Amino acid sequence: MCAVQPPTGCTIEHTCEYTDAHRQISALALENCWATTALKVIHRVKTALAHPENTPGDALSGQKRQGRILRSMTAIERPRRLRRTPALRRLVAETTLQPRQLVLPMFVADGIDDPRAISSMPGVYQHTLDSLRKAAVEAATAGVGGLMLFGVPLPEDKDAIGSQASDPDGILNRGLRAIAEEVGDATVIMADTCLDEFTDHGHCGVVAADGTVDNDATLHRYVEMALAQADAGAAMLGTSGMMDGQVGAIRRGLDAVGHTDTAILAYAAKYASAFYGPFREAVGSSLVGDRRTYQQDPANRRESLRELELDLAEGADIVMVKPAMSYLDILRDVADRSTVPVAAYQISGEYAMITAAAERGWIDRRAAIEESLLGIRRAGADIVLTYWATEAAHWLS
Ligand code: PBG
Repeated sequence: MCAVQPPTGCTIEHTCEYTDAHRQISALALENCWATTALKVIHRVKTALAHPENTPGDALSGQKRQGRILRSMTAIERPRRLRRTPALRRLVAETTLQPRQLVLPMFVADGIDDPRAISSMPGVYQHTLDSLRKAAVEAATAGVGGLMLFGVPLPEDKDAIGSQASDPDGILNRGLRAIAEEVGDATVIMADTCLDEFTDHGHCGVVAADGTVDNDATLHRYVEMALAQADAGAAMLGTSGMMDGQVGAIRRGLDAVGHTDTAILAYAAKYASAFYGPFREAVGSSLVGDRRTYQQDPANRRESLRELELDLAEGADIVMVKPAMSYLDILRDVADRSTVPVAAYQISGEYAMITAAAERGWIDRRAAIEESLLGIRRAGADIVLTYWATEAAHWLS
């Protein structure tokens, strides 16, 4: 019995060759339980039969004809044809990686005379204002698409509401002015709009008397911070605090004083991740405990779509998923639905893991970095924040 339907126009009386072939295909399909393959083979048989040499009545014996048809039936698909040479592979590559798609996160620290190495992120530094300028120029010259600046205040300058964050003379705002002056519009200057680096308790927001993070009180602080950052020269604000309504509050605050051109890169989906570990060292975080009452549960997928919708409705110009590598499914979901460009943040722990494995000789560093970036792009990120931005930009140009 036939398991698959013969192609349109084919009747059982069509030709005896066809009938034979069709029976064999049906057997194949039954064996493999794989109707699509069988249908493809039917198509081949049909094509083979249509060939003048194979039509009944030519010089070929029936047996030869049968052989030909069977050979074409069993010809295998050869995807390797397009992988044979670098030129072929380049021709058919679906995903691109270009310097303009990369954003470099940078740290500027108060009260240091020399750049300070971050032990859990070899190759990444807390910059002085001077070394920050140099690194910003290097990144911009390499074609990097943007710079995302984080500030590291002196421990004694931290307080409960993160006052330094909105102080024009706070380290982050001084850093923003320095790079704005240095690189102008050669690349996009972005600021982290979150309080955690500046609070003495290390939380991303203001803490209420009962110890919880007070969402709406925090929004006021975010607006103050955003205005100071826009004044200091930030073209785009990264809202990483995961307070409800933060994008809308900041948008309204900016617009009210005429900063209508300052864009918002909204951390739409941000998960409470263990992979932020090295970042906490990088910014000298004072946090004790975790951020699970405001960052998302790694178990959840659906709520990222809700966060996306809210951020879009509140006026996000770009939406981001963070971390990247453990959340590529979320990234794909967001990319499929977003009406604005999508970014992903390859965070400190991702940097640290690849760096550490490469230092031990366990993986090929450059190949692993390139593959990780390509994977994040392929999953749907138009833009990737990565501590390798400048180095990768050099490789790519
Ligand atoms: C918080 C913030 C964090 C990162 C960026 N912004 C840390 C956190 O949420 O605990 C992490 C970035 C990284 O790990 O590279 N404002």
